[in-house]
Amino acid sequence: MYLEPEEEKMQNGEYGETMQQMLEILVGLGKVFGAEKLIPIASAQVSGASYKTIGKWGLEWLQGLDAHVAVPTVLNPIGMARDRWKEMGIPEVFAQQQEAVVAAYGRLGIKLECTCTPYYVSQTQYGEHLAWAESSAVVYANSVIGARTNREGGPGALAAAIVGKTPYYGLHLFKNRLPNIGITVDDPAALKDAAEYGALGYVAGKIVGNRIPLFSGIRPPRDHLKALGAAMAATGAVALFHVDRITPEARLPTFKRDVPETVEIRMDEVQEVFSSIEVDAIAVGCPHLSPAELDNLAGLLAGKKVNKPFFVFAAQGVIAENRDAVAAIEKSGARVYADTCVVVSPALDRYDAIMVNSGKALAYVPTMCGAVARIGTMEECVAVATM
Ligand code: F3S
Repeated sequence: MYLEPEEEKMQNGEYGETMQQMLEILVGLGKVFGAEKLIPIASAQVSGASYKTIGKWGLEWLQGLDAHVAVPTVLNPIGMARDRWKEMGIPEVFAQQQEAVVAAYGRLGIKLECTCTPYYVSQTQYGEHLAWAESSAVVYANSVIGARTNREGGPGALAAAIVGKTPYYGLHLFKNRLPNIGITVDDPAALKDAAEYGALGYVAGKIVGNRIPLFSGIRPPRDHLKALGAAMAATGAVALFHVDRITPEARLPTFKRDVPETVEIRMDEVQEVFSSIEVDAIAVGCPHLSPAELDNLAGLLAGKKVNKPFFVFAAQGVIAENRDAVAAIEKSGARVYADTCVVVSPALDRYDAIMVNSGKALAYVPTMCGAVARIGTMEECVAVATM
């Protein structure tokens, strides 16, 4: 793998042990995946931020690093809202360990915004190369923005953040971004809500696995694309999808639509994902809510009180910019938390059945929270919470 003179100096330890270690991680990844060189990145998003995930040894390793990130970098959601962990019922010992992890990342210059929607809190542009780790953020960046990132692991994303570069392979290369399976829906007009797109993604992900699907005949707005991609990344391993004439690369005049096979998904298969089981909590914001989704929820909850715990998750930056909507939501008794989410927070582990409006959460809640999951539209979540 070709290294520039500066990169060779890093590799030889001339910029210290941490830089050497980080460069070695990137070179190791590059060799495994056949990268010919490293390329500069515009930003990074680092996973492995929850103490639950990295544990004592991961924390010690982080604390030993002596470096500063070279590009704007944020963290994946952690196990608690940093300013409201007591109210979430998080044990103090967990909160202290979690804060130690966050502080270790902060010392490296990482912005302490813990979110799977980094694209709401900083500009991400078409064609930019990134090193993002969280699967829903990756699929959104590639598909909806047209930026380019592989599904990075925690160490790879951190190394890329510190070096400011990533190995040039996989989805960084245009030739690897073409669709290789077509998906149609028998009744696209029936898809109206993010939850319905999430349920479609839940079904589609199992069919496409790690291939690059090209959807035709649907016209989802950005928030629905977010739900679709997040679910496919969870039930499959989708890191990029196209929607014909909607997503940026599928609008290029040179876009190649030839796919070896096309699968039709029936809306009755999508509807089967919905159920009406009794739940004891509701959680929305997987992925973290957009400003428009916060507004919509505020409108749905206006003048109502929730009778069940109602968790809402969004990025700190989005919460800060949308104080009125957040206040309106909280007036109902629902709670809007930053930094964390339904899947990574131990606060949700105490419930037996959780209602979500996300295909990704539907896939992960049973294993990660040990609860039965039910998916419903945002309207249905509000109706169940307020009846
Ligand atoms: Fe984000 Fe957590 Fe869902 S990281 S995509 S809210 S599982």
